[in-house]
Amino acid sequence: MIGVRNITKTFPARSGPELTALENISLDIAAGEFVTLVGPSGCGKSTLLDLIAGLTEPTSGELTIGGHPITGPGLDRGVVFQQYALFPWRTAQANIEFGLEVKGVPRRLRAERAREMLALVGLTAFAHSYPHELSGGMRQRVAIARSLAYEPAVLLMDEPYAALDAQTRESLQEDLLAIWKRTGTTVLFITHSIEEAVYLGQRVAVMTARPGRIKRVVDIDLPDSGAGDPRSEPEFVRYRRDIWELLHDEVRAGV
Ligand SMILES: Nc1ncnc2c1ncn2[C@@H]1O[C@H](COP(=O)(O)OP(=O)(O)OP(=O)(O)O)[C@@H](O)[C@H]1O
Ligand SMILES: [Mg+2]
Repeated sequence: MIGVRNITKTFPARSGPELTALENISLDIAAGEFVTLVGPSGCGKSTLLDLIAGLTEPTSGELTIGGHPITGPGLDRGVVFQQYALFPWRTAQANIEFGLEVKGVPRRLRAERAREMLALVGLTAFAHSYPHELSGGMRQRVAIARSLAYEPAVLLMDEPYAALDAQTRESLQEDLLAIWKRTGTTVLFITHSIEEAVYLGQRVAVMTARPGRIKRVVDIDLPDSGAGDPRSEPEFVRYRRDIWELLHDEVRAGV
């Protein structure tokens, strides 16, 4: 579904040599797969997401979506940015309806769907509030609801839960997994939380310090923990430690 082949991305520097943000990155994500991406700050995670979103162009290499070259943004990809990107002149509900409008969903269905999504993220009472009337975490929940509302084939999420409190975060993680299972969406999810990466991902891609390369892709295979919390299972703890060690070397290398 997503093909990243030998991608290098450099930025012109203010002074001195140009900055290599990504160096020869390759990553294939199958349709319906949930991949999480971790790496030290500044290693190029957001840069990679912007490239797949079609917002920037690589310096070299090939990017494909569903086998076709990526030439720009599209409704096949929903993006939740690291910084909230809501339309300030639209209410929470109208923000969520945006993608549905572009898709040509009739007004009544749009409103219904937006209200469902508002309920999902716990913001029913704020349907008619504007972004400046919402807290940071609430804005991010609207952005998440907006990207989920029109069920794009691919969801690209850049640390969407970083600003949320632990309870909201865990409940949205579960909602996201439920939506993913129901819709078969392909998800690329960036996070700084190793626990979140292991909990959500079928695979966890670990990046190196700048210039960003893929250091290792770890397959997550957790036994069914039944009604219990998978986070406290010994396998979960082992994955968390393994990935922590992979990352720790990188954070040190980057200092
Ligand atoms: N538009 C730009 N122009 C110049 N340099 C940029 C630009 N965007 C990113 N960079 C540089 O590319 C590198 C990677 O940045 P990026 O935002 O992708 O990192 P990140 O892994 O998402 O970090 P974080 O975890 O802190 O969000 C950084 O050194 C950054 O300064
Ligand atoms: Mg980033």
